Formats: sequence, structure tokens, C-alpha cells
Amino acid sequence: MTEPSDQQLIDAAIAASQHAYMPYSNYRVGAALLTADGQVYGGCNIESVSFTPTVCAERAAVFKAVSEGERAFSAIAVVTRDAGSPCGVCRQMMYEFAPDLRVILADLNGNVHLVTTLRELLPHGFGPMHLDESES
Ligand code: THU
Repeated sequence: MTEPSDQQLIDAAIAASQHAYMPYSNYRVGAALLTADGQVYGGCNIESVSFTPTVCAERAAVFKAVSEGERAFSAIAVVTRDAGSPCGVCRQMMYEFAPDLRVILADLNGNVHLVTTLRELLPHGFGPMHLDESES
């Protein structure tokens, strides 16, 4: 299987964004998460009238993938109208599985605004390695 290009990943994120449920913010987000073996999982933001339960597109994609048995990820494309950056909660959740994740930020027209890494977005992150050692 050939690895999808950044542009294909962005297209998958745009397709996922069509399913966004965002009646309160009107801020559409789509994500496409690439696994180490070339599978793509889409995600969109899903809002709640009580606000707190709202799930971002990035976490929707991570939850879909992990619940299908995936744990290794190489890249994520995120699309919004202004190529907005993943929120702190999503950065932390992605760091759990893929601290070296490549992060592609694009707008809803498919224009790339930034290609970076999760380590850039979450420097000195708290990860599973911190809980590896038993208490002494
Ligand atoms: N949102 C995301 O889906 N991803 C982010 O990283 C930033 C915020 C969503 C949550 C909410 O539905 C809307 O964007 C406005 O905050």
C-alpha cells in the first residue's frame, strides 16, 4: 500500500469536516489521522448543547482509530476555515500515542498553512514514559 500524500490526507480531513456537528460555534473542523501502516481515520468536531462534552475533530479521529486497535500514528491533517491549531487537550491526547506525530494544518480549501510536529506543539510534554517507573 502506498502512503497517502499530505494533500490526500488533507482531502480526507476536508471530507471528514463535512460531517462536523457544530451548531453552537459554527466552527467546522476535520481531521485525518494516518496510522504507521497507512490507514486513514477521519474525525470531525461534535458539539453538545451542554458544551463540556464537545469532542474535537482530532480526538474523534484518535478515538476511532484506537477503538479499532490502532496505536501507532505517523501524521494528522487538520482543516478549519483559518487553519487553526489543535487545542491543548488534543495535543495531550495525541502525545499519548504519537509524540513524534507530523501535524499538517490546512484550510478548508486545502491550502497548507503549516507543517510541524507534535513535539513542536507540545514541548516538554507529559507522556506515558513518566509513569513507567514504580514508586521508590
Ligand atoms: N475544535 C476542534 O475540533 N479542534 C481543535 O483543536 C480546536 C477546537 C472544535 C471544538 C468546537 O466544536 C469548535 O472547534 C470551537 O471550539
